[in-house]
Amino acid sequence: MSDSPSPKRKRVVVCRGQYCNMGRRADKILKRLEVLVDAINGDQYPKPVKLEIANCLSMCGAGPNMVIYPEGVICNGVDETMLDGIVAEHVVSP
Ligand code: FES
Repeated sequence: MSDSPSPKRKRVVVCRGQYCNMGRRADKILKRLEVLVDAINGDQYPKPVKLEIANCLSMCGAGPNMVIYPEGVICNGVDETMLDGIVAEHVVSP
């Protein structure tokens, strides 16, 4: 089996750089996203959603930041209370 990215595969990239992770904000986001992404992926292989960590997404002042690919949806000022809605809208495939 191949783990190469498919055109429909989602990648959720969360910045864990020094600005986005002030007060461990990015860590809290990642902890919640791991639960949400695991629930979507289940036992599927290859996994339809991949969670990735970035060191900086070059938009520090708007952080915490994340980007969802392949669409390139940029989410700024994210906190863990927003994640269920973001995932439902931009990650879960219709
Ligand atoms: S530290 Fe997160 S965008 Fe730069």
